[in-house]
Amino acid sequence: MSKQISEEIIEELRHRADIVEIIGEQVALRKKGQNYTGLCPFHQEKTPSFVVSPGKQIYHCFGCGKGGNVFSFLMEREGLTFHETVEKLAARYGMALPEREMSPAQQKQAARTKRFRQINQWAMEFFQHCLASDEGEAARAYFGSRGLDADVIQRFGLGYAPDRWDSLCLDLKAKDVQDEELLLLGLAQQSQRNTLIDKFRNRVMFPIWDDRGNVIGFGGRTLGDGQPKYLNSPDTPLFQKGHHLYALNLAKGTIRQLDQVILMEGYMDVIAAHQHGITQAVASLGTALTDEQAKLLTRYTYQSVICYDADAAGEAASMRGLEILNHHGFQVRVIRIPDGKDPDDYIRAHGKEAFQKLAEKALSLFEYKLVITTQKFDRESMTGKVGIIQAMLPELAKIKSPVARQGYISLMSERLSFPEAAIKEELRRHQGGIIVKPAGAATLQSGERAEGRAQAAILRLLLEDPSRLEIVEEAGGAELFENPHAQTVFVTVQALWQAGHQNLTGEDLVALTEADAQRQWLTGILLEEEIPGDPHKVFQDSLLTLKRSRIEREIKKLMDHLSKLETSGDASRANEIMTRISGLNKEKQTLRP
Ligand code: UTP
Ligand code: MN
Repeated sequence: MSKQISEEIIEELRHRADIVEIIGEQVALRKKGQNYTGLCPFHQEKTPSFVVSPGKQIYHCFGCGKGGNVFSFLMEREGLTFHETVEKLAARYGMALPEREMSPAQQKQAARTKRFRQINQWAMEFFQHCLASDEGEAARAYFGSRGLDADVIQRFGLGYAPDRWDSLCLDLKAKDVQDEELLLLGLAQQSQRNTLIDKFRNRVMFPIWDDRGNVIGFGGRTLGDGQPKYLNSPDTPLFQKGHHLYALNLAKGTIRQLDQVILMEGYMDVIAAHQHGITQAVASLGTALTDEQAKLLTRYTYQSVICYDADAAGEAASMRGLEILNHHGFQVRVIRIPDGKDPDDYIRAHGKEAFQKLAEKALSLFEYKLVITTQKFDRESMTGKVGIIQAMLPELAKIKSPVARQGYISLMSERLSFPEAAIKEELRRHQGGIIVKPAGAATLQSGERAEGRAQAAILRLLLEDPSRLEIVEEAGGAELFENPHAQTVFVTVQALWQAGHQNLTGEDLVALTEADAQRQWLTGILLEEEIPGDPHKVFQDSLLTLKRSRIEREIKKLMDHLSKLETSGDASRANEIMTRISGLNKEKQTLRP
């Protein structure tokens, strides 16, 4: 086990770090009362529902429900682990962290990883060297024929694996690299005569880096029409297919700066893009985008533009990629390259500005699906139009913003020359007459809502004045809280107070709460509008509400029980329950504010 960073250091950091300053670097914040508000970085919105409290050092979005403190903000926004977040904040605020202590097994693992990276680095340098040598003439000509200049060849570490059986093996063995290391890293393979031969022969070589710039694998392309066109490193201790993005190490600066990533399919597409100054491009390398890749990107941006090949495979891959990115909360748009060209060809032929124009015209998720769906039907015929509309209804229903939905209905109406009112009617039927509420809107009955408010008010007031704990305990304690989050908070507060932490603040509780849902609920109640009115009266009224609700729940339970007894016919038991119900009803009568 690595040594845990001490609680004191984390506490110290939490107090030194300024949440407004840190969030303010990523979100434009405006002062509003005691707090700051801005557009939520975790979901798309046009009016601010994201609140940051400098006093409590927490944030909460009343649109999507995300909430927490500096640590959870950085972890979520930048995809850092807790440990990395602590390191980052410690560096920023000039605090020294004790050296991490590693177990012998961990030390061995770290040394092995370092060694593997070194071997890959040597392999890359060997391929680069061969490209520049006499042997590399055809490879240089090949890169030339694909329009690559010396600068981009250098930036991407491109090389050449000679047309010999064991040139790399020989070079690395001279550096004391072992056979089994060559095999493990996928640089060599056993020949039929049981000798070790190079995996990559007579191919131009593309090193693959991780996002920190360590060489983790290679792709090698034939110079002609040989098969396979690209040979890639197998899964190795450093490289797993679908876990990395090609060129992310080179693109990450621009991605952050522009707050946008462009996703392409292949090596050559990305290299062409970078050569022409489109340096926010990365590639998923042949596979459809994976969850791991999407997650990796969330460290840098939530705005993505997909630019895959214009063929059927590219379209299918775009569609899957779209869904995955959308699922991870990305805003997704799709560039369609005209004339069935690869992005590579298009950028070379038309340059950066033309490509940027295409990017500006990139389609939204909905538009792209509409285009793809339209291709599957005959949109001139009535059955075709109806088919397209039917296929798009679930997509329309997913759009939460009424303004956007209206916009897309108009667009469909225009594209299909089909009356808007008829599309709306279809949508209404599709939704079974239910009007979809905007995200996050409460669907609670007013009684439940009052109960929810009362639970929040009690907990907030409790944190302001610990002497109220006794009153809540007498009134029923944890049982009063119907919401499991509220109950957990109450029980935690109770336990901490009993353990002597009387100065506990809401902020402390947020820091102690690891479960996302629990923490988000907590920041929500802490940052709700100030409770209006006299706190003492609010507290008393809320307590009454909770007591009444608790009795109502009890009554309901007994009624359920009663209706079951009626079928079994146990009269004496039924009488007993009815007496209890009437007792509870009387008790409820006394609980009027
Ligand atoms: P493409 O076949 O579209 O290749 O595959 P490309 O990028 O246009 O290649 P060029 O322009 O002919 O050089 C897209 C990506 O799929 C992976 C590679 O990552 C490639 O860049 N791929 C393709 C393979 O891994 N193996 C293959 O045999 C083919
Ligand atoms: Mn291509």
